[in-house]
Amino acid sequence: MKGLFLTLEGIDGAGKSSHIDALEALFKAQGRQVTRTREPGGTPLAETLRGLILEQPMDALTESLLVFAARRDHVVRVIEPALARGDIVLCDRFTDATFAYQGAGRGFDPAVLRTLETWVQANPSGGLLQPDITIWFDLAPEIAAERLAGARVPDKFESQPVEFFRRVAAGYAARAKDAPRFVRIDADQSREAVWQQIEAALAERGLVASQSGGAP
Ligand code: TMP
Repeated sequence: MKGLFLTLEGIDGAGKSSHIDALEALFKAQGRQVTRTREPGGTPLAETLRGLILEQPMDALTESLLVFAARRDHVVRVIEPALARGDIVLCDRFTDATFAYQGAGRGFDPAVLRTLETWVQANPSGGLLQPDITIWFDLAPEIAAERLAGARVPDKFESQPVEFFRRVAAGYAARAKDAPRFVRIDADQSREAVWQQIEAALAERGLVASQSGGAP
């Protein structure tokens, strides 16, 4: 079976992580092997870098280099082998987050990000590793901030002002505009309604056999 690379994206507080269990169960119920992972992270080295990226103040180039260093280790050790085995790779964030957070959010040069992307995601067949499908949880930054308030101790990004997340959200929208792999989910709905949108989008693309209609 052919591997499938599925990523979940959205601003902090958009609710993407709460659907990963259900996605894993959905694909497993179809007899697929699932590799579940996240960025920054997914390997011991990348998880160590995640701690630095989320906690230490640093300039945007340093942050971008660390994000892509973590990604390189993750791609080589986890994502590519899993796809070669035919797994479904469920990845909580990938390079779209770098263009949205470091690019649009922090105002860092997207041309440099594209160069790093080419270095890190180049595959042996001469192409660029990209997700097959990206589920983008679109939610107004003001609502996401309300949802996050008091939920947990905020990390470096979560404690940014709402203006930062307006830029990040615009970054996601710009990226989605050019890429048919993006599926926009209206995340300003109940958890069950959000899940139904996800299932419908996967069924429409022939990635799951049928819709169960059930909530996670
Ligand atoms: P998470 O809380 O969804 O796991 O994401 C971790 C944080 O890292 C989130 O605030 C977004 C940020 N991030 C970046 O700034 N750049 C990236 O490339 C990635 C993958 C995440």
